[in-house]
Amino acid sequence: MKKQQLKETIEQIFANGKGILAMDESTPTCDKRFAAVGIPLTVEMRQKYRELIVTTPGLNESIGGAILSNETIREQTKEGVPMANVLMKAGIIPGIKVDMGAKPLAGFPNEKITEGLDGLRERLSEYKTMGARFAKWRAVITIGDNIPTTACIKANAYALARYAALCQEAGIVPIVEPEVLMTGNHSMQGCYDVTEQVLKTLFFHLYQYRIDLEGIILKPNMVIGGTESGVGNSIDEVAEATVNCLLASVPAAVPAIAFLSGGQSPQEASEHLNAINKNFKAHLPWIVAFSFARAIQQPCLDAWKGKDSNLEVAQKLLYNRAKLSAAARRGEYKPEMEG
Ligand code: 13P
Repeated sequence: MKKQQLKETIEQIFANGKGILAMDESTPTCDKRFAAVGIPLTVEMRQKYRELIVTTPGLNESIGGAILSNETIREQTKEGVPMANVLMKAGIIPGIKVDMGAKPLAGFPNEKITEGLDGLRERLSEYKTMGARFAKWRAVITIGDNIPTTACIKANAYALARYAALCQEAGIVPIVEPEVLMTGNHSMQGCYDVTEQVLKTLFFHLYQYRIDLEGIILKPNMVIGGTESGVGNSIDEVAEATVNCLLASVPAAVPAIAFLSGGQSPQEASEHLNAINKNFKAHLPWIVAFSFARAIQQPCLDAWKGKDSNLEVAQKLLYNRAKLSAAARRGEYKPEMEG
């Protein structure tokens, strides 16, 4: 029964070539993004921005699921309609970020552990009453001098497995997100090696905690050289390394992989996702889609600037970025479609 429920949710999210919009920024992350474009850091502006997103005409053509934060799932539009209901009415399934953030891992300088397991069963059951049918938990792995450690990778895999078990018990699809950060001077091979180790450790823990792999969505990073490495890899190289790493580490029972964008520009994220699907689709056992935040939202946020007079233009940019991401999911994106 639960198994069927999880399966249907995943099918609906990714139906007709759609993907996921991540709009679950915590208040500190939202503040950072707002400050960068001069938007006042207030609860009112966050509400307005989220209303702009959920009321974007035609968003449902490309987006099948949207991840909300604890603040947004409790927020309403100016007409008093809960944001989650606006999404559901458009046929977009609401999801909820349930982790409580990545905190310093005691005893392990520069490494993080994601917290939020305490009380999670109760929180999931409340979110379900508000319409959430899937959830997200993000673990953060940093590449640097002598890191990541095995201890950090295992601790995060354990937390992801415990979270996934609680979600599935509640009939909520867990998005399992082990993000290997792009920051650093590591090579693409360095990213490959760490991502492989992280994914293999993760799937071992998911197995130990009896997770139904057919009822999860994996949200990984792409395999890319570090932002300070000074070496650029071609689109096709990134696509091939990413596909090889996933084929080596992710069981075929997983129905869908939805990438994070991780600080890539919107165009880069689209180009990489497109190359993965265009060049390799026939060899991949999973749906390979997107769960982007910045790579869908950034042009919209830059144009909006917190002003009502920019609302329409901003919504058009959001619609457009979601469309291009969905085209990349199908392997039909072309750089000429930009602008
Ligand atoms: P980005 O696409 O901006 O990396 O965000 C995805 C996300 O949800 C991070 O948890």
